[in-house]
Amino acid sequence: MDLSVEAERGRVMSGVVAAQGNTVRDAVDQAVAGLEFERLHGQYWEQNEFLVIKQFLPRSFVEETFVPQAQGVKAQLNRNYIPGHKKGGSVSYYTVQEKAPLFLDLYHSQSFREFLNRLVEAKLMFCPDNDPHSCALYYYTEPGDHIGFHYDTSYYKGARYTILMGLVDRSTQCKLVCELFKDHPTKQPCHLELITEPGDMVIFNGDKLWHAVTPLGEGEERIALTMEYVTNPEMGTVKRLYSNLKDSFGYFGFATVFKRALGFDRSK
Ligand SMILES: [Fe+2]
Repeated sequence: MDLSVEAERGRVMSGVVAAQGNTVRDAVDQAVAGLEFERLHGQYWEQNEFLVIKQFLPRSFVEETFVPQAQGVKAQLNRNYIPGHKKGGSVSYYTVQEKAPLFLDLYHSQSFREFLNRLVEAKLMFCPDNDPHSCALYYYTEPGDHIGFHYDTSYYKGARYTILMGLVDRSTQCKLVCELFKDHPTKQPCHLELITEPGDMVIFNGDKLWHAVTPLGEGEERIALTMEYVTNPEMGTVKRLYSNLKDSFGYFGFATVFKRALGFDRSK
């Protein structure tokens, strides 16, 4: 089994034309068309539903197109601190919708979702409009910003998939740390430490990947986009309440989460 994902590149490099000047949807279509699907599909399943695609989008395209959008909503950042577990900043899907809509062109891209469907062998759906994680930004901007080990547990009736893309990675210390095969009945856990450079993509089943982000150092910065898809967007009432409380404390703040959850925000 090949777990040397850092060394792997997820595309046929020849024939890939720089995407500068294209729209996001064009760039994504082009990126998907250049992927070596069969190899990636094999890796994803060999790695217990986990895959890294280095430079899914070219770094220069990400830095010219997406990074200004991410830097532009820093004023809307919600800082959170849960002692012993996490410290950092988040910008919710609701703010992305209003102020950084280019990310939604990636999230909503038909070619991208068709690629994911084939990769994970399921029909993926968008999260409901009241899920602030649907397409959100996570900021590590102050020394010590991190998140402890966790699963991206699905509270939905179906599976939940996380797609993470690096936007800014001016850090030597802040890494995505993954334990593949944790809790797997037959396989030994496999420890990986990844840097997510602008344009690098990580795809995984939230219930299967035990992962963390290590603390940011002095003068460093890391920003990542995360997108969530589900196989069934229904959620029971109790789990919805639990999920909203978790998002309020851990990510986006009460006002952001409950304004949309209770239907007071009719702007979208
Ligand atoms: Fe996570």
